[in-house]
Amino acid sequence: MKKRLKNIVNGFFISFEGIEGSGKSTQAKLLYEALKKRGIHVMLTFEPGGTKIGERIREILLVGPEHAGMVPLTELFLFSAARYQHVHELIMPSLKKGMVVITDRFIDSTMAYQGAGRGIALKTIESINRIATQGLKPHMTFLLDLPAESGIERTGQFFLWSGAEIVAREQKADRFEFEKIAFHRKVRQGYLYLREREPERIILFDATRPVEELHKEIVKIVLQRLTKRVPQIISHNGVRTPSETYYLT
Ligand SMILES: Nc1ncnc2c1ncn2[C@@H]1O[C@H](COP(=O)(O)OP(=O)(O)OP(=O)(O)O)[C@@H](O)[C@H]1O
Ligand SMILES: [Mg+2]
Repeated sequence: MKKRLKNIVNGFFISFEGIEGSGKSTQAKLLYEALKKRGIHVMLTFEPGGTKIGERIREILLVGPEHAGMVPLTELFLFSAARYQHVHELIMPSLKKGMVVITDRFIDSTMAYQGAGRGIALKTIESINRIATQGLKPHMTFLLDLPAESGIERTGQFFLWSGAEIVAREQKADRFEFEKIAFHRKVRQGYLYLREREPERIILFDATRPVEELHKEIVKIVLQRLTKRVPQIISHNGVRTPSETYYLT
């Protein structure tokens, strides 16, 4: 499977991961802009969603307390359905064109939330992920790590977990933000475990550091990696190289 993918995928695939409020969207967007400015053919997308169908699934998944009855496996299958559509419709075609694709969340979110958070066996998730992604894995994943309390506080949903009970249901929060703090702690630990398993792919950052500082380091790492693959992309400052020659793996 791996060999076959290598033959068809020339692009470079980057994901951002971390708990709520860790700065994924902020850093993904900054990286996207930095690469675009350098004339690199890049696309920014997110999960769950990224496609029309995925957006509808996202609504079912994230809507607040009225879907509180969703059981873990339903959640897993819905995320996976959205992911299959995303990979099929958007990610694979873009990678085949040789683009850099940046996604705000991907497979590790499922492992951390539905695995560590909800308690589904990681093996089960891995086998479903393999189908949902057609075997595709990010070349590079940035894990933004911070204490669950800080992340939730940043999302503006701090009030939701002030005690054991959920309060302020009227407020705009998604189904995951309604989870108690213990859930988010488990998710964080899940992410750290994944990083231990795959230290080459998953690059860990202390997300409490300033936005600009993190951004600079992330850009540096990405450019280093891209330069190593095809040096001319970066050296021709601002000049777009034909996408087919970008990043042969
Ligand atoms: N390094 C940082 N230091 C301080 N605040 C930050 C940092 N990065 C992001 N923020 C702020 O924290 C909030 C959440 O950031 P962001 O939306 O990027 O996180 P996220 O991981 O995408 O969250 P979610 O999981 O809810 O989508 C925003 O208000 C953002 O401006
Ligand atoms: Mg976000």
